[in-house]
Amino acid sequence: MSCGRGVPIVVFGSGRGSNFRALAECARSGTLAANIAAVVTNVKHAGIAEIAREYNVPVLEIPHSGLEREAHEEAVINSLKVFKHEWIVLAGYMRLFTPKFIARYFDQTLGCTRIVNIHPSLLPAFAGADGYGDAVTYGVKLTGATVHLVSAGLDDGPIIAQESIVVDDFDTKQTLAERGLALEHRLYPKTLHRLLTEEWHVSCGPAQDGRARVVFGTKGGHK
Ligand code: GRF
Repeated sequence: MSCGRGVPIVVFGSGRGSNFRALAECARSGTLAANIAAVVTNVKHAGIAEIAREYNVPVLEIPHSGLEREAHEEAVINSLKVFKHEWIVLAGYMRLFTPKFIARYFDQTLGCTRIVNIHPSLLPAFAGADGYGDAVTYGVKLTGATVHLVSAGLDDGPIIAQESIVVDDFDTKQTLAERGLALEHRLYPKTLHRLLTEEWHVSCGPAQDGRARVVFGTKGGHK
């Protein structure tokens, strides 16, 4: 039981699962070169689990309540042992990882973790749980979504791709989230496919104090 053909991945989520559905749909149709080996959720009866079953993806339901953060992560790692995976893909996973977990998925050759996330804002603006709500509250005219590699900080780590949407004057959190999610559902599978199939490296860019970002292509660019 799994979904799609290509690089083996596992998807982590805590809620609705609309990004998972977009990923699974693309994996099934072949536009995402990934094999979704399992879904991990820390929430009982989460929407993502139900959708995973629709796509024949095994679900590991591992609630975190009553467990220390590290003990929960150990349980996740143990359950994942039988599922070959090269990447963890976060799709609405509402848990921060410990530095120990981050270190475990750090790839020395790549210089980054093998964990990807999608965030509902143009980072570094509006990190945290409510990107679309924060954009409406703040009154920005433009927001969007960011796909990034995960590091120890909150919604931090090398940016892979971003796309923007205009915030209309009469947008509510709900109307903005609707357009934002539609954008996410295009951006995430497309970006993940590039990450799994193209040449790229992590670069600090031309500035001396430049932050790490993902640069596609082998020729030119910064190391
Ligand atoms: C998305 O907005 C995603 O960017 C954020 O959490 C939300 C998950 O939604 N990290 P869903 O569960 O994929 O529908």
